[in-house]
Amino acid sequence: MRIDVVSIFPSYFDGLTLSLLGKARSTGLLDLNVHDLRDWTHDRHRTVDDTPYGGGAGMVMKPEPWAAAIDDLAAIDASVRPTIIFPSPAGEVFTQASARELSGSDHLIFGCGRYEGIDERVFEYAATRGEVRLISLGDYVLNGGEVATMAMIEAIGRLIPGVVGNPESLVEESHEDGLLEYPSYTKPSLWRDRPVPDVLLSGNHAAIAAWRREQQFERTRLRRPDLLPGDES
Ligand code: ADE
Repeated sequence: MRIDVVSIFPSYFDGLTLSLLGKARSTGLLDLNVHDLRDWTHDRHRTVDDTPYGGGAGMVMKPEPWAAAIDDLAAIDASVRPTIIFPSPAGEVFTQASARELSGSDHLIFGCGRYEGIDERVFEYAATRGEVRLISLGDYVLNGGEVATMAMIEAIGRLIPGVVGNPESLVEESHEDGLLEYPSYTKPSLWRDRPVPDVLLSGNHAAIAAWRREQQFERTRLRRPDLLPGDES
């Protein structure tokens, strides 16, 4: 998979050289390219923002550098229509299902907005170059799209076949089956007066599987009842 990220703070993404995604990049499973939006400006000050029409607080990102960046990046591989993602608190909410769907793409482009956002016409223009998605990490506001993009790249990247060494570990995680994951324990079996649940030491695999399933339902009911069928919240 090829991923291009456009940001005015490219060094945010230095962390993506680490751990499993760093390895996926060095082995070629993930071709991640981070770009500075200012490289698509032409004035002395490398200006990317301007005052909003209609007034109001803050600055808005200008359309010209964004259009030039999208033109160049979408043209890199003419055989695929890229998915162009703009992280935004006003977008659809990102879920494990979104991550799974996007992990099947050949080319993702992330456009990280800052300030009060990007000129609205950029989204319409980008739709002439790829499939546009505005995606929110959740119902809170970040200072820009960088942290949201990093979270999405990690969630998507780890689903690319071969990135996580043991694919079984992906199946048993929270949200993969619509429930939260069961609790895990390791040695020692008694720690600071707290024992590991007996069933996990029993060697009875059927009993362990049943207990874990029960724990998944119990935790989901307590912490995230909205995930259970029949919840209208
Ligand atoms: N940019 C600012 N807030 C955001 C959020 N919650 N999700 C995605 N992008 C954002």
